[in-house]
Amino acid sequence: MTSPGPTSAPRPRGSRHAPDETFPRPLGLLAELTYACPLHCPYCSNPLNLGDYREELTTAQWHRVLTEAAELGVVQLHLSGGEPLLRRDLVEIVHSAGELGMYTNLITSAIGLSPRRADRLRAAGLDHVQISIQASESTASDRIAGFPAFQRKIAAARLVKRLGWPLTLNVVLHRYNIDRMADILALAERLDADRVELANTQYYGWAWRNRAALLPSRRQLERAERIARAARDRLTGRMEIIYVLPDYYSTYPKPCMGGWARRQLTVVPNGDVLPCPAAHSLPLPRASVRENSLSQIWTRSPLFQRFRGTAWMPEPCRSCPRREIDFGGCRCQAFLLTGDAARTDPVCVLSPDHGIVAAAVRGANEGESLGEDALDPRPHPHRVQQP
Ligand code: SF4
Ligand code: FES
Repeated sequence: MTSPGPTSAPRPRGSRHAPDETFPRPLGLLAELTYACPLHCPYCSNPLNLGDYREELTTAQWHRVLTEAAELGVVQLHLSGGEPLLRRDLVEIVHSAGELGMYTNLITSAIGLSPRRADRLRAAGLDHVQISIQASESTASDRIAGFPAFQRKIAAARLVKRLGWPLTLNVVLHRYNIDRMADILALAERLDADRVELANTQYYGWAWRNRAALLPSRRQLERAERIARAARDRLTGRMEIIYVLPDYYSTYPKPCMGGWARRQLTVVPNGDVLPCPAAHSLPLPRASVRENSLSQIWTRSPLFQRFRGTAWMPEPCRSCPRREIDFGGCRCQAFLLTGDAARTDPVCVLSPDHGIVAAAVRGANEGESLGEDALDPRPHPHRVQQP
């Protein structure tokens, strides 16, 4: 599943306890309800060891998590996975969040968004729907998704608009769809999307495994960026277009999650709590809502404390004027690329490890394309225990 981008402004609707002002306040919670999913996208950011997440939180446990999140100050709930529509209690979860005053965003492949389910979600107060699109037409799209999903996505997108929800389309860009940018934007216009997120692949999970095949060339990126910029100018006021720059081609890293344990937290299907959706790959102590409250985890757990603020930073970040802008980049990327999560993100040109990223980029520009056959698709996890 893709990560949540910013959605429309949250609309707090309920009362809640005053947050502890000595700590940063988490505004957003990403609730990964299940890692089960009908699609097999080769860039999925879910963990490789899907079998370890079979025992999902129950409806009552999610209700407790949401209540504690609201007390902590969370106002935006992103419901994701896997495919969140596979949870039979999704309507109840949305309803709980609404009662707690949260703005709710469903991040979905749209498989399972039948008219009846959509009506029930609407009645439960769901605020926003984000549908993933793999390409601009069914052959390419279904090949990337590993599932005949395209026509159902289109039908679901129309249903979302008919029911009056704001619609975001999310497109993860890579070597095999980035040249279709103009057609993807034309499709978004035809569907009357309110917002399109064109997000270059982030290399975690299955995307990390498939990086050599997925990383686009500089020429592809420059062309795509020109098309995105022209569309943004032309469609101002009608459709918001967000183009997320590819990390590997940037000079400085992204401020991942807006800084570690600063504004966001993630709860994964088995109840583990993470400062970012990829942090399960890091060799850090676990934190789980099965053992502690969300507030204890947010304020006291070694996992959340580890990279909070700037005191943990090594050089060159420690003395860098950008340290409060990008927070030294992404901890998960630093770990994947160097084996040490506490190093400067190698995407940064100032990092002593930048050569690792430069070599990957060289490979994408000089080498022969590996071809789609080289992609390792995300498998189905066994169906997980339902509440
Ligand atoms: Fe950011 Fe660190 Fe690079 Fe400075 S040295 S730009 S703080 S990653
Ligand atoms: Fe984990 Fe960036 S994805 S810190």
